[in-house]
Amino acid sequence: MSKSPRPDKQKNASASPARDTATQESYDDKPYPSYPYPLSQAEHVAAIATLLKLKPVPLEKARVLELGCAGGGNLFPTAIKYPQSTCLGIDLSPVQIREAEQHTSAMKLGNIKFEALDIMDLDSSYGTFDYIICHGVFSWVPDFVRERILEICEKNLSPRGIAMITFNTLPGWASLGAVRDMMMRHTRQSQDNAKKIAQAKSLLSLLYKFVPEKANIRSAVVQAMESFNRPNSDSYILHEYLEHNNKPFFFEEFNDALTQHNLQYLGDSVLDKMFTGNLGAEADGLLSQIKDPIKREQYVDFISNRQFRWALVGKQGGQKPGVIDTDSLGSLYFSTHIERVEAKSDPEKGVFVYALPGVGIDYTSLTPVMTAIIETLIAAKKRALSLSDIRDIVSTCGFDDHAMSLFPNTVLLLCFHAVLDVHIAPSCFTTEVSQKPKAFDLARHQASQADCTWVTSLDNKVTAVSADEVAILRQLDGTTPREALGSDLVLESLCAKKLLVG
Ligand SMILES: C[S@@+](CC[C@H](N)C(=O)[O-])C[C@H]1O[C@@H](n2cnc3c(N)ncnc32)[C@H](O)[C@@H]1O
Repeated sequence: MSKSPRPDKQKNASASPARDTATQESYDDKPYPSYPYPLSQAEHVAAIATLLKLKPVPLEKARVLELGCAGGGNLFPTAIKYPQSTCLGIDLSPVQIREAEQHTSAMKLGNIKFEALDIMDLDSSYGTFDYIICHGVFSWVPDFVRERILEICEKNLSPRGIAMITFNTLPGWASLGAVRDMMMRHTRQSQDNAKKIAQAKSLLSLLYKFVPEKANIRSAVVQAMESFNRPNSDSYILHEYLEHNNKPFFFEEFNDALTQHNLQYLGDSVLDKMFTGNLGAEADGLLSQIKDPIKREQYVDFISNRQFRWALVGKQGGQKPGVIDTDSLGSLYFSTHIERVEAKSDPEKGVFVYALPGVGIDYTSLTPVMTAIIETLIAAKKRALSLSDIRDIVSTCGFDDHAMSLFPNTVLLLCFHAVLDVHIAPSCFTTEVSQKPKAFDLARHQASQADCTWVTSLDNKVTAVSADEVAILRQLDGTTPREALGSDLVLESLCAKKLLVG
């Protein structure tokens, strides 16, 4: 891992052949809401890579680069949780970078830097990185920037480095693309962003009202309408649907581009998408007959109508993509986010039904060992436990050797079913309010901003907070006694939202 001084920007600017000034102006005019994304955190990439039997560099000493980092919202959690890591975020938009720098100095962070830099200008003098995060950029830039992103991954990834690149995926994105085409057509004569957004919103409302339920495009219209409910929806609509560049790819096209840069597809940041069993036994059987893993992935996208990919990418090295077994479970930690549905469970008959939040379907535990694993993690109050800790607890339930021999495979199956989440480290949030509560520094800083409505939780999620919670959060520096803080209810709520470290 080499660390080099910053290069002379002027020198690089003159060497670059092409510029994407329209994109810079657009993001300067309407900055993107800079959120954390759990799936594009370096620590999550490390966890999935470990499961894939790779040897990712420990975050404690890693160099992390984010390309197109906007206001830094996705990079701050890494810098704060891993103070020995070194983080660099670059973005074309000086307005967004200024925002990121203001947060950095307010939080007095010494291990994170932001630079208003065109991806075209990041060269080998920046050294190598153990993680390169590129979320929401690849599809939204011209071809020459896309090429450069892959060149950066080729030249600036350390030998064990892993990149995470997201892109709009075909065939699923095609229907959303049709909605975008309508919005682009409807707004094409407006130069002003605010006007374009207003026009796009009114068109979407019309489509939502009049496009029949049975029309092919209906679900894409509904999905686009959901953008209205996001915080900062204007900026999202502008950059998601109305930017000049927005190109979806078939997975095989993306993989071809990787190969041309001596890069290799390793797997997916969304663990359950790597398990074809989730598509049903018949589809799984057919897909398993396709021996070429890249081709198989392509057909998975066809069958599942995949719309977006979170691709993990590394240097070529003969690793088969997406190979997961129980060998690497021992160095990972597991948590669950599901809850038991008492009304549907029948403990006497050994039937336990759980709710999978956000998915809207129930999950029925298939075996007693499975139930014991889930119940162990529910009792851990969403904290992540190591495999051996879970095994120790489960083994006290009186299972025989045969039942316990199924334990590792059952853990893996629960991960594939999106019932368990996998982590590279134990949870750093507390589940009990302490005598002198301390909040996650990032959340406390965000709460200190005017009009704060959301903060980042310790599991890297955008977390809505009420005015009362903001007021208390601001005070939680670990020095004020609990009694002096006022509402216990608010403290309990902040704790349940995974915002307290002590
Ligand atoms: C859709 S936003 C995504 C922001 C962030 N990664 C996220 O997921 O929230 C795309 C970002 O890429 C940046 N960007 C686009 N072209 C770029 C380039 N050539 N060099 C650096 N950043 C660029 C934009 O300024 C913008 O902040």
